[in-house]
Amino acid sequence: MDWQEKIDRNNVPKHVAVIMDGNGRWARQQGEERIFGHFSGVDAVRATLKAARNIGVKFLTLYAFSTENWNRPLEEVQALMDLLVKTIIRELDELDDNGVRLQAIGDMQMLPEDCRSELQAAMDRTAKNDEISLILALSYSARWEMTEAVKKIVQEDIKAENITADTVSNHLQTANFPDPELMIRTSGEQRISNFLLWQLAYSELYFTDVLWPDFNESEFYKAICDYQNRERRFGKTSDQIIA
Ligand code: IPE
Ligand code: IPE
Ligand code: MG
Repeated sequence: MDWQEKIDRNNVPKHVAVIMDGNGRWARQQGEERIFGHFSGVDAVRATLKAARNIGVKFLTLYAFSTENWNRPLEEVQALMDLLVKTIIRELDELDDNGVRLQAIGDMQMLPEDCRSELQAAMDRTAKNDEISLILALSYSARWEMTEAVKKIVQEDIKAENITADTVSNHLQTANFPDPELMIRTSGEQRISNFLLWQLAYSELYFTDVLWPDFNESEFYKAICDYQNRERRFGKTSDQIIA
C-alpha cells in the first residue's frame, strides 16, 4: 500500500509527537544486546524526520529519554548518552542543510556535560532554520515539567485569580509549540508513560505493534492516514462538526 499517496495535503498535523519504543525487544529478537536496538533506532529517527518534513509537519517531538529511564542499568544509560552525542555530531550538517531546527525539552541539567554542550551548539547553529522543528524530549517527564511550571508560577508571584489554562501552558517547556494533533507510540504498548500529559489532552493517539527500529517513512505515512480518518470533536457533537 502506498500510504504517502493517500495523504490529504490539506489536513497534515502541524505537530506530531512520538514515543519511540521497542528498541530493546527488537535487539533481543535479533539475539543482540539492547543497545544494538538503540543504534538501529537512529535510522527510524532519520526516516521519520524525512517523512514528516516531506509532508509539511512543522514540529516533530521525539521522546528519546524519560526521567524514569535514568533508573536503567548504568551501562545502558551511558550508551544512550554516548549515542546521543555521536548522532548529533554526525547528523548536524545534514540537519542544518535540510532546514531542521533542533530543539529540546526536559531537564538538561541532568545530562552529562558533553551531551549538554553538543546539544546546545546544535540548537544554536540551527536556531534560524524554519522548515521543521525536531524537538528531542530528553530527561523529560510530564510530571517533572508540570512541577517546574508550578514552581515558576509561584516564583513569579502570579495571583491565583489571574491563573488560566494559558498561564499553565505558557510555563511549560512546550510554551512555544502548538499541542500535538497526533501522538504515535510504537511497540504495542498502549500507555503515555509520563509524556506530554497536558499537551496531549485532545490529541489523536495512534498505537502500532511495529518496534521502533522497524518504523519507517511508510509507517509514518500510514499513521498520518489513520489520523486523517478520525473525527476530532473537542467535546462537540458529530452534527456540529459537519455543520
Ligand atoms: C525505547 O526502547 C528507547 C528508550 C526508552 C530509550 P526501549 O529501550 O524502551 O525498548 P523496550 O521497550 O525495552 O523493547
Ligand atoms: C517511554 O518508553 C520513554 C521513551 C520512549 C523515551 P519506556 O520503555 O521507558 O516506557 P515504559 O517503561 O514501557 O512505560
Ligand atoms: Mg520500552
